[in-house]
Amino acid sequence: MKTQFFAAAGLLLATHASAQSTIFSGSGFGTYYYDMEQVKACGTDFEYQNMGVVECSSQAGLTLDNINSNYIVAMNNTQLSEDMSKYCGKKVIVSVNGQASDLPLFIGDGCQRCGTGSATDTTWDAQGAPGLDFSYSVLNELSGDACTDGHAAITWEIVDETIYQF
Ligand SMILES: *[C@@H]1O[C@H](CO)[C@@H](O)[C@H](O)[C@H]1NC(C)=O
Repeated sequence: MKTQFFAAAGLLLATHASAQSTIFSGSGFGTYYYDMEQVKACGTDFEYQNMGVVECSSQAGLTLDNINSNYIVAMNNTQLSEDMSKYCGKKVIVSVNGQASDLPLFIGDGCQRCGTGSATDTTWDAQGAPGLDFSYSVLNELSGDACTDGHAAITWEIVDETIYQF
């Protein structure tokens, strides 16, 4: 039997869940705002971003550094704050060009840009466009070149599977 262990506290064992129901799905743009492995990348220093308390841990006060995972995803901060228990720790399946990634991504933080402008906007706008915000490493993996592109067109599905317990 293959069992996968995660170093970070709070991460549950990743099992192959049977039927996952979709909590929310959307389309828009992915960007990056922190990174645990490449603290300096693409002319950016993530040191201070990494020290930020994530929205899903506003009570315990865990920072990105504390959680120490590149798989934390930030979503529309308005939507998240309306019902934290619905989204926090839930798995997110992200697709680029219709190709679903199998990265163990989970909702953990709020993204202001992702909550500004219209949810149905199809043009990129750094000030407000629907989407998600990732670690630099994850956007790199999703888009192929996060540094050059800065953002990538994505679709996503938040599913009813808790992969991190806040
Ligand atoms: C963000 O979420 C709010 C509340 O659900 C919603 O009204 C708004 O349209 C969303 N914005 C974007 C850009 O998705």
